[in-house]
Amino acid sequence: MIDRRTFLLSAAATAVLPAWAGAPGRTLRAGPGRAQLTGGMRAPTEVWCYDGTVPGPELRVRQGEPVRVTVQNQLAEPTTVHWHGIRLPNAMDGVPDLTQPPILPGGSFTYEFTPPDAGTFWYHPHQRSFEQVGRGLSGALIVEEAAPPQVDRDVTWMLQDWRLTRDGTIASDFGNRMDMAMAGRLGNTVTINSAVPEAFAVRAGERIRLRLINAANARIFGLEFAGHSPMIVAWDGQPVAPHAPDDGRVVLGPAMRADLILDMSGEPGGRYAVTDMFYRGLEYRLVELAYAATPLRTRAPDAPIALPPNPLAQPDLGAARRHDVSFGGGMMGGQPMTGHSIWTINGIAAHGHAMAPLLTLARRQSHVLALHNDTAWHHPMHLHGHSFRVIGRNGSPAPRAEWRDTLLMAPREHAEIALVADNPGDWMFHCHILEHQEGGMMGVIRVA
Ligand code: C2O
Ligand code: CU
Repeated sequence: MIDRRTFLLSAAATAVLPAWAGAPGRTLRAGPGRAQLTGGMRAPTEVWCYDGTVPGPELRVRQGEPVRVTVQNQLAEPTTVHWHGIRLPNAMDGVPDLTQPPILPGGSFTYEFTPPDAGTFWYHPHQRSFEQVGRGLSGALIVEEAAPPQVDRDVTWMLQDWRLTRDGTIASDFGNRMDMAMAGRLGNTVTINSAVPEAFAVRAGERIRLRLINAANARIFGLEFAGHSPMIVAWDGQPVAPHAPDDGRVVLGPAMRADLILDMSGEPGGRYAVTDMFYRGLEYRLVELAYAATPLRTRAPDAPIALPPNPLAQPDLGAARRHDVSFGGGMMGGQPMTGHSIWTINGIAAHGHAMAPLLTLARRQSHVLALHNDTAWHHPMHLHGHSFRVIGRNGSPAPRAEWRDTLLMAPREHAEIALVADNPGDWMFHCHILEHQEGGMMGVIRVA
């Protein structure tokens, strides 16, 4: 017989058991492997992968349902997994020395969280990520809506950028000063889901939801779909009013995602190029949309394409507190700064993840961050633990005030972002050009 006090205690314990307790979960093994990136004649490339593949397995979970993943480290160095863009408890954010100890070789760590938002997210290490991501460690994390828009196919393209030597091995010059001080590690081989793609097979009349994830260390993409009119329905997993891309290009800095609704409006038997136009003079054909001879249907479906909203707290701009954040450094008409301190946020170059906060945001309050890119380079700036609204750029209101977790800032650009600081903890705020992050462009924003 249990006494009444024991009973009450165990009843209370049951009541506070977190939702994931009992969720079956899965493991994710980080370790060395091989991948046939370029196809054809060359031997497979030695890569680092999750569960033996690059990209890692696409994890599909449902909005509002608990997720439990045990990461096993079979690499020869410490690692962690960061669930990029997911609003989760700070202790599950995967930042070594800040939110958890690094997972040592042979060790493991169990991540447990319940994604509040549906959308297209991804996962990658946060330990020496300029090399770990660059050697292949990343995967898609798709949080499914209860009622997604109707499409014929839901397709993910993980875009990766590899720097390969002539014999097809990964160039080992990770973290060199040139890459750190300039545009980051741009590769020479762009893959979609780890293969250099020839053609992507489609059928006339088909409606595809295309989830684009930029998993490259440094490459910015500006994709044009010849002969097609993609509609953007989400940025960084967060729904946006459906719209055609500005200037006809879907621009994705490192870590950014876009969900497109792509109606296959081409001719049966036709081929249409998808071209990356971002770097002037370096345009290349990423892939071709290759139409089957027979159409799926004669005209595009007319079902609505907008995504259901996510439960994000709306910042109150009238009451918001304002903070200035400036980015500095880099190669500026001369020599870069010395050592690894190449880039700064508010004048400080980070060394590792454990550091005093650059800003403390009062919890449950609305805040506006005025961001100033005082450098001559692009920077995709990423905030952990929150999504924010882009409310202005260079002094003009942003037309859609879209939600994002990563904002691509052009050289010398100013932008204003707004958020409710509703997730307590110490959160990284850093450039997602991973060589810039390693070169100091990283800080901590505390929500307390
Ligand atoms: Cu996608 Cu701090 O990272
Ligand atoms: Cu940067």
